Amino acid sequence: MASVPSLASTLQQQLADALTAALPDAGTADPLLRRSDRADFQANGILALAKKLKGNPRELASQVTAALPAGDLIKDIEVSGPGFLNVTLTDRAIITTLAARAADGDRLGVPPKAAPGTTVIDYAQPNVAKEMHVGHLRSAVIGDAMVQILEFTGENVVRRHHIGDWGTQFGMLIQYLFEHPDELRHGGDQADGEAAMSSLNRVYKASRVLFDSDEEFKARSRDRVVALQAGAPETLAHWQRFVDESKIYFYSVFDKLDMEIDDPDIVGESGYNDMLEETCRILEETGVAVRSEGALCVFFDDVKGPDGNPVPLIVKKTNGGYGYAATDLSAIRDRVRNLKADTLLYVVDARQSLHFKMVFETARRAGWLNDDVKAHQLAFGTVLGKDGKPFKTREGTTVRLEDLLDEAVERATAVVREKAEKVGLSEEEIVENGRYVGVGAVKYADLSTSAVRDYKFDLDQMVSLNGDTSVYLQYAYARIRSILRKAGDAKPAAHPELDLAPAERALGLHLDQFGAVLEEVAEGYEPHKLAAYLYQLASHLTTFYDQCQVLSDENPAEVVENRLFLVELTARTLHQGMKLLGIRTPERL
Ligand code: ARG
Repeated sequence: MASVPSLASTLQQQLADALTAALPDAGTADPLLRRSDRADFQANGILALAKKLKGNPRELASQVTAALPAGDLIKDIEVSGPGFLNVTLTDRAIITTLAARAADGDRLGVPPKAAPGTTVIDYAQPNVAKEMHVGHLRSAVIGDAMVQILEFTGENVVRRHHIGDWGTQFGMLIQYLFEHPDELRHGGDQADGEAAMSSLNRVYKASRVLFDSDEEFKARSRDRVVALQAGAPETLAHWQRFVDESKIYFYSVFDKLDMEIDDPDIVGESGYNDMLEETCRILEETGVAVRSEGALCVFFDDVKGPDGNPVPLIVKKTNGGYGYAATDLSAIRDRVRNLKADTLLYVVDARQSLHFKMVFETARRAGWLNDDVKAHQLAFGTVLGKDGKPFKTREGTTVRLEDLLDEAVERATAVVREKAEKVGLSEEEIVENGRYVGVGAVKYADLSTSAVRDYKFDLDQMVSLNGDTSVYLQYAYARIRSILRKAGDAKPAAHPELDLAPAERALGLHLDQFGAVLEEVAEGYEPHKLAAYLYQLASHLTTFYDQCQVLSDENPAEVVENRLFLVELTARTLHQGMKLLGIRTPERL
């Protein structure tokens, strides 16, 4: 594994050293390097420094220039404006650096972190006995991308699917099943997920009707909750059946999403049941939580209701029951103490932000979170329909996730089929590509806007071949693969001795930023910046095709090889980047 410093970071370092050499008193000063339209890079840092030292910025800029080492990196450097430095790199440096990236396999020259930590990521957390809807899409898609990205940076990642598998509604369900043992007909492994869920759904609805109309059933259901929480064996066995049936369904939906979820990582709310009492005891003993109107509560100065009264986080209800907060606080203890996390990441709807704010603050007061162990909610916005309102079916009901995915795949398959003959795809390939394009379209649309913003779910736009869509990126990839197949005996090879065309330089400089972008994406939990990077990469590629022929008889052999080298590295970067977003790149499209 070879770590390849980016051109920008090498230049940054050389400029910083030159600054120190020219101005020993300045200490470590940042040259503030940026990409620029007028040259490859511009350094703006000298201006502020000159002001601080009461010197002449243009003079200082010339001194810095003079202090730069000789070498192959810089082709041209000029002082411009009040004291900026415009830097143009040599074509040789660009190709040499990219060749080092290309020689580094899938890592593409991006080094793993020197001191990785452990991040526990809480994502893809549907609820037992309930269908998954469009609201569950974002947590799964964003969470899965963050898992891949963090793992790529070398972070030690533990996945946790905090499914809703505990609580009072299960008393009702289980009691109903006790009294109607044959109703959950569906069984076991041979089951397909949607059938399992529709059976569960039926039972859920029937039990709800009974619960609302029959006082005695209601009372029996309440007793059943007590039995469940006390761990009565028969009650637990029934509950387990619900959970198992639901999991079959979850797996079928995750499979549709082309996403791998592993059973040991599913640790639902029930998994923390044994810790709840202790969590509350510690909070009460340390004074973090106090009794208020019979409930155990945590108060915050800045959390108040519309009436101006404080709104507490309730960790134990007046009736002795534990809620969502007690479970989340126990999960924090587990993740910090047992899983040795130093970062807790929650990919959860922004509508739960107040809950997490209060939970995190409580955990800090209790000492479970501190300067070394941090928690962060990667909050996401709502999926909207074309009308700008929360996404619903035409009938006004919530959209089932599997229906939405099926429709996306259907639409995508039609798009793939249109070009299939020309590309020579078999029926099997059409079906497979249709799936990858359809699921990719849905994932990309979700990942390419900043998570916290709402976005409109618009399949027409999502499967469009033009614009910022996954299909556009998938076609860019497939087109390169097609060129590489057509190249015959000509093989990709770097030729640092060649002069580059402007479009080649632009593509090359963008390729070189892959590692820096990933670092930023991982630091800030911002997958949309990776999507934007890949889209720009594909756009640079399009410009490159417009201006540079790859396989032309008029090109000398070295030019063909060097261009093949550039497009091949582009393909590998696209492939790796898309993979980190959970999106496939078919070879032929
Ligand atoms: N199951 C919850 C829901 O559907 C999301 C759980 C989020 N994670 C957590 N640790 N609270 O809203």
